[in-house]
Amino acid sequence: MKILAIESSCDETAAAVVENGRRVLSNAVASQIEIHRRFGGVVPEIASRNHTLSIEGVVKKALDDAGCARDDIDAVAVTYGAGLLGALLVGVNFAKGLAYAWGKPLYAVSHIRGHIAANYIDSDLEPPYVCLLASGGHTAVLEVRGYRDLHSLGQSRDDAAGEAFDKAARVLGLSYPGGPEIEKLAREGKPSLAMPRPVFKRDDAIWFSYSGLKTFVVNLVHNYEQRGEDIPRADIAASFQSAAVEQLVDAAETALARTGLDTVAVAGGVSANAYLRARIKERGEANGWKVRYPSLRYCTDNAAMIGAAAYFEIAGGAAPASLTLDAAATVPLS
Ligand code: KG4
Ligand code: ZN
Repeated sequence: MKILAIESSCDETAAAVVENGRRVLSNAVASQIEIHRRFGGVVPEIASRNHTLSIEGVVKKALDDAGCARDDIDAVAVTYGAGLLGALLVGVNFAKGLAYAWGKPLYAVSHIRGHIAANYIDSDLEPPYVCLLASGGHTAVLEVRGYRDLHSLGQSRDDAAGEAFDKAARVLGLSYPGGPEIEKLAREGKPSLAMPRPVFKRDDAIWFSYSGLKTFVVNLVHNYEQRGEDIPRADIAASFQSAAVEQLVDAAETALARTGLDTVAVAGGVSANAYLRARIKERGEANGWKVRYPSLRYCTDNAAMIGAAAYFEIAGGAAPASLTLDAAATVPLS
């Protein structure tokens, strides 16, 4: 089954053709990072406008790169949420129009499930496993019992991990998006500064918190500035990254112990972080877990992951969406 997938939830206009959930035939992305960089973050209205300019070309490119035409495509899939409403609407409306014009079934996909499904691409991963999800909008640990049977074990009480990376980067004078910039700067520093590392473990849930860590970095930098001292930017980046990542790795460890599962898959933009990948691999080797993460190009937003998720939704009996499908700023985690 070949699925044409469309994703426009934030600042990437993306389309892909994915075969049977695991094989990517094309993966086209028009990134708006350069446009938003001068504002230090994504400006929703500008994102929507640029999606409308790019979407037709991106979808055409995905079809051309895959060598596919209308008759080769079995279904159209689109991210309906979570994300920026105006941005999502561009993808949703384009997908609705295309599905209607082509007479193909339309499937609505959760962006969160897309990030998780990125782990199925070019891989043989099958449920059950624990998924550690860390993106700009979500931080959670889930028990994936089946392709469509997800159970949240805990999530952030406040900010998402990626959001903290972005804010810490901004106060350190780094450009948007902050995650890769912090990662680069952290390589030049030492994690020598103590920073908040809260993980709230209760019998029934695992929680994360990032707002305290974020505020700590903001105050720390301001204190150096007020004292007129040099800011040890690289050490702050390394210390922040260590605190942010250890929270994630600890939560994964608790989730694996609690579920008795032996596989953890990392997902979301923060899963591109080499320090996180190394730390979770190390902890996995020490504990005998199998650790999986998507290829780097499928960690941050893309449409291939939406095509992968759609395939497993369809295979599991999901009904097609109607043409009244609407975008949603938030979607349930599981
Ligand atoms: O999954 P994603 O592309 O979009 C959302 O669904 O939110 O995640 C974007 C987030 C941003 O906060 C970005 O700074 C972070 O992922 N990110 C990283 C890295 N690459 C992207 N964080 C840490 N290290 C990275 N290498
Ligand atoms: Zn995302």
